[in-house]
Amino acid sequence: MIRYHHFCTFALFAIGGLLSNLVSPTLSAEEIVRPPRKPVEVVQGKLGVVTSDTPLASEVGRDILAKGGNAVDAAIGVAFALEVTWPEAGNIGGGGFMMIAPPDEEVVCINYREKSPANVDTKSFVNWKQRKHIRMAGVPGTVRGMALAHEKYGKLPWHEIIAPSIDLAREGIVVDPYLAYSLNLVFSVDYIQKLPRFAEFRRVYGNPNGRPWKPGDKLVQADLAKTLTLIAEDGPSVFYEGAIAQKIAAESKRGGGLITLEDLKQYTAQVLPAVEGEIGPYTVFGAPLPSSGGTTVLMQLRMLEALEFPTQSDDFWTVEQVHLMTEVMRRGFRERAAWLGDPDFVTVPTDITSEEHAWQLASTIDTSQATPSEDIAGDIPLAEGPYESSETTHFSVIDKDGLAVSNTYTLESTYGCRIVVPGTGMLLNNEMGDFNWYPGYTDRKGKIGTEPNLIAPGKRMLSSQSPTIVRENGKTKLLIGSPGGRTIINTVTEIVMQTLILDRPLDEAIDGPRFHHQWFPDAIRFEASDNGLFDEMKPKLEAMGHEIEANDVWRQGCANGIIVDLETGEARGVSDWRRGGGARAVE
Ligand code: DON
Repeated sequence: MIRYHHFCTFALFAIGGLLSNLVSPTLSAEEIVRPPRKPVEVVQGKLGVVTSDTPLASEVGRDILAKGGNAVDAAIGVAFALEVTWPEAGNIGGGGFMMIAPPDEEVVCINYREKSPANVDTKSFVNWKQRKHIRMAGVPGTVRGMALAHEKYGKLPWHEIIAPSIDLAREGIVVDPYLAYSLNLVFSVDYIQKLPRFAEFRRVYGNPNGRPWKPGDKLVQADLAKTLTLIAEDGPSVFYEGAIAQKIAAESKRGGGLITLEDLKQYTAQVLPAVEGEIGPYTVFGAPLPSSGGTTVLMQLRMLEALEFPTQSDDFWTVEQVHLMTEVMRRGFRERAAWLGDPDFVTVPTDITSEEHAWQLASTIDTSQATPSEDIAGDIPLAEGPYESSETTHFSVIDKDGLAVSNTYTLESTYGCRIVVPGTGMLLNNEMGDFNWYPGYTDRKGKIGTEPNLIAPGKRMLSSQSPTIVRENGKTKLLIGSPGGRTIINTVTEIVMQTLILDRPLDEAIDGPRFHHQWFPDAIRFEASDNGLFDEMKPKLEAMGHEIEANDVWRQGCANGIIVDLETGEARGVSDWRRGGGARAVE
């Protein structure tokens, strides 16, 4: 009997082990078809609006508003629901920034950016090659961040806000074309299929029937339902000191990671004042350091204000506009590299977002010629070699009383480091990649080695996340943000310019083509655009000295925004087409 029992246990393990290697679908990257482009999704309402990367998460937010929760309750609900419905970026194992604008009060930012574990020094990642490894994980901040937002601003009980996400995880969600695309893409990667450390990833996200994911399939996440139940019942302490913390620390130790139980215990989120500045009749509020987002967006907008920016055109962008915006981005990103880092560790010049500083930078712009990026490197030495060696999601919520939330959070890469902590159904981030890994080594390919963002124990890595709130006459007018790594800053600058300066409807501003320049590499990156606009511009910009990088598939970010008509009080939610998001309004 005993021997029979042992045999069964062995057989179950063997079958389980086999299955964990068999369940993953095997489409090649070429066979995976991106869902066709759809129009941006638009809703309108006075009783509350939610826009996010999945219709299901937006519905969770809308239902929380409809049952009497406020925008912060709804935003927390959306954050947990995205963990279930958009696992490539939605997370409890990552971190981010939540901007909150209570009517008639200061705009604040909940900083729940990940922190470096204690056991590091500035050179810990020199020559480290593997981005999809548990060693890349920073100490997660999302659960503490949500709990802090709830403690300060929440109305409904914590467990009621998380309950819909538990149901979605336990009962399963119907996979839509975007989720099928995302999952099939990650499973097409050879090492995800093969390496033992991704066995839990294969078990959790593989299609149990052994074929690639198809729209209409069901994704059930039983372990995640249990994890969310623990968080709903016990609060953040279970994640940072209790059963979940134990599991994270154990997996980190087993897999060669850095996070310890003590690191988790030490993690704190903060309430910070927003970065703030007047642009024309508007006040722009951005995420403060350790995100470079608010500072760089504001610096760029101020430079554009200092220039004579042409506002009249029939085209979405003109050559002149793209040239000036590029010059502004080039300078914004140079300043970012020179000065920005976690303010708990570095002193950042207080005038970095001042008008004077922006004017001085703008005065170096030639309106008819590109400035080579090396010419503005200043005292940042550029290396010649040899050190050879983008996932996030944004959502916006406004409630009937005008309380507004603009939140970006991330796992860094799609599905973070792709390590699911065994038994939790939860992915960890790979945010350590946002630190400058090579002290003193800044190159023309885009590697940055400047001092302010070098790794240190307990330090937060510099982010580009730019959840933004714009007010006019003290009233919330625009909520916007996007994923996309360093492109986030430019996506937000472009949408703010399009809506508030060029006076385009938010629908068009989000729909239209985008471009990016980040100082190095010294090239403008055009988004794949189906109206031919950028193809036409290319020779003209090249004649001005710009290098252009374009390809047929690249999409720049995914902006989920809300704009308010301050006369009628009506909010208009717009969800980007780029990832198939959902906009929902309370009826
Ligand atoms: O915080 C940051 O700047 C990055 N970790 C964001 C990564 C990202 O947006 C990737 N998404 N597409």
